[in-house]
Amino acid sequence: MKQGKPISSNRLAQEFNKRFGHPPEFSVSAPGRVNLIGEHTDYNEGFVFPVAIDKYLHIAGSKRSDREVHLHALDMNEACVFSLEAIEDTKTPLWGNYLRGVAYLLQEQVLRKIDHTLNGMSAVITGNVPISAGLSSSAALEVASALAFLGACGLEIANTAINSNSEIELIELPPMELAALCQRAENEFAGVNCGIMDQSISLLGKADHALFLDCRSLEYKQVPLNLSDILIVICNTNVKRELASSEYNKRRAECEKGVEILQRWLPSITSLRDVTLENFKKYEAELPQITQKRCRYVVEENARVQNAVSALVAKDIDTFGALMNASHEGLRDAYEVSCDELNVLTEIAQSIDGVIGARMTGAGFGGCTVNLVYSNAVEEFQNRVMKEYTQLTSIEPHIYICDVGDGARINWSSHS
Ligand code: GLA
Repeated sequence: MKQGKPISSNRLAQEFNKRFGHPPEFSVSAPGRVNLIGEHTDYNEGFVFPVAIDKYLHIAGSKRSDREVHLHALDMNEACVFSLEAIEDTKTPLWGNYLRGVAYLLQEQVLRKIDHTLNGMSAVITGNVPISAGLSSSAALEVASALAFLGACGLEIANTAINSNSEIELIELPPMELAALCQRAENEFAGVNCGIMDQSISLLGKADHALFLDCRSLEYKQVPLNLSDILIVICNTNVKRELASSEYNKRRAECEKGVEILQRWLPSITSLRDVTLENFKKYEAELPQITQKRCRYVVEENARVQNAVSALVAKDIDTFGALMNASHEGLRDAYEVSCDELNVLTEIAQSIDGVIGARMTGAGFGGCTVNLVYSNAVEEFQNRVMKEYTQLTSIEPHIYICDVGDGARINWSSHS
């Protein structure tokens, strides 16, 4: 869960063995994500375009014969034990609540319908998705724990296993249904009113593809990136996202207020997704100033995502980059979820030759930027960002060149 080298599956199994006295039956890995474009659009039923990154949350686990869940978070050196008989929202430790929420909802929404009951589980948890950096470490934890709890029942969802095992039962559970369950766990058990983007990409990521997701219909396309000589580079401001959850909920409320007012003139709309740029211009003067700015950003960002996907498919990467830059401007000036450090990082990046586009990514107020950079400019990019960002902010950034990987997978141990 903190930045570092990915743990090998052998070491993870050893750590499990050390604590529980036998090898694990399975290990699960779920990736973090970086969103290329389409920020704060998911909860407005709009479009997003994220990729799964090669940073993961890992869980090694086994079923137990009782109905208890015994967890060890290796990176935090913390343990958590709870009973499946009465899952309570205790918030101690906080990370344990994500697993409690997922277990509770899996039992209620999935297993009950197929006459299964959750088994107890022993598990160790580790990972290298940076926490509070806008790269969705919590969605990775939710998704990994969902696959792990199912694994402890001997269940697996189509396309999530690395190896097959004849004793495992395959269940019909559409990935977007599981993503929605994990989102609900975060909304109700962690108290964060997030949208559905992060959980979806952690499940549905595909190597060298981005996920074009319609957050209303939940239809999606995995779009080939074809980046060849272009790299996706993530820069971490190393500023924790302090304000993120209170301001996040405020933005949601402002968007809802905008919809309510616009409905007087556009009675058929149910979210900002339904408002075209043309209609928005007609009625924007009716909105209070702040609401107007927030709504304009969302309406424009939805259009940008669709244009960006078309540009990528047409191999027009410069247009894609220009749309990323415009997205940042909107997030900074109209949606006001950026911060000085994110703006400094973005400005440095945009001034470097060979940078196609740069923007903040995720909820904002700290966390990371995402940059598309020609590979022959990456060295200069790293040197300049390191030097100039540190000079201007007195904070050392982290820079990751990211590989776009697959979504969450379960790996059954050969002895199980
Ligand atoms: C967070 C939320 C997502 C999404 C982004 C902003 O990552 O979890 O649902 O709203 O912020 O795009």
